[in-house]
Amino acid sequence: MRHFLTLKDYTKEEILEIVDIGLAIKKNLKNGIYNKELENQTLAMIFEKSSTRTRVSFETGMYQLGGHALFLSNRDIHLGRGEPVKDTARVISSMCDMVMIRTFAHSMIEEFASYSKVPVINGLTDSYHPVQLLADYMTIKEYGLEKDLVVAYVGDGNNMTHSWIMLAAKLGFELRIATPQGYEVDAKVLEEGMQIAKKSGAVIRVCHDPKESVKGATIVTTDTWASMGQEDEKEQRIKDFDGFMVDDLMMCIAAKDAKFLHCLPAYRGQEVSESVLEGHAQIVFDEAENRLHAQKGLMVWLDRQRG
Ligand code: CP
Ligand code: NVA
Repeated sequence: MRHFLTLKDYTKEEILEIVDIGLAIKKNLKNGIYNKELENQTLAMIFEKSSTRTRVSFETGMYQLGGHALFLSNRDIHLGRGEPVKDTARVISSMCDMVMIRTFAHSMIEEFASYSKVPVINGLTDSYHPVQLLADYMTIKEYGLEKDLVVAYVGDGNNMTHSWIMLAAKLGFELRIATPQGYEVDAKVLEEGMQIAKKSGAVIRVCHDPKESVKGATIVTTDTWASMGQEDEKEQRIKDFDGFMVDDLMMCIAAKDAKFLHCLPAYRGQEVSESVLEGHAQIVFDEAENRLHAQKGLMVWLDRQRG
């Protein structure tokens, strides 16, 4: 049995296999053929933070696969009133077939997984957002951009950036990260990524100059400047991130036909301009839809690992 907590624990072959299962399920779905591999199974979804895409995609995905999903907000279950994680894990995993968790500290999900009898999926922690990267890579593949891939990430060194580091390190593509001073990625995550990159041939660069990072990039991406849990820092961050908005000028420096990705929700006029988010380079709504298909691939893959 496997959990899906970070891409660090997955090989290149496994990541590609999950994405390919998702693509095959998507193709069939578009032709009206439903894969019902998870019939009678239940997915518990624990949310300690808000969500639109993650909730809708997992709930819809589980239903389409023949199963059922339970939305468990921490406002409603005893976890939010102090019931220990290890007790919650043992109880939920004795009744459900898979668990997806969105929470703050990554250590919470690790503790949950260590007590869980069923696969645990990371639906976002403060440190990583790996299911998003499955959808992002699926979208890159659909647009035929996986060869000679150069990704420029402009913005906050956060859970998305850490996940990009792991994806690049595993798959072996070039990733350039530009953050303002003081908002760099976690040094330990970068070091781990660099070590993995030595084997895959990935090139991972960090700098503080967004224009330098986007030069010739085939994918330009960013994320909110203030992640969930950082609402109090929002005003300060808007000042500190001056010059880091992905706008038309920045897209002009990228490769011809470069595409723009964003995990969403997006804040127009902050990390991305209205013109880029609504322009010809954006593929963010295909990316959002692919959350559904990529996660169906993941759930099917995890179920097959049980043997
Ligand atoms: N991108 C993403 O995870 O979106 P939600 O926060 O809406 O789930
Ligand atoms: N970095 C963002 C991603 C939202 C999907 C956050 O953690 O809020």
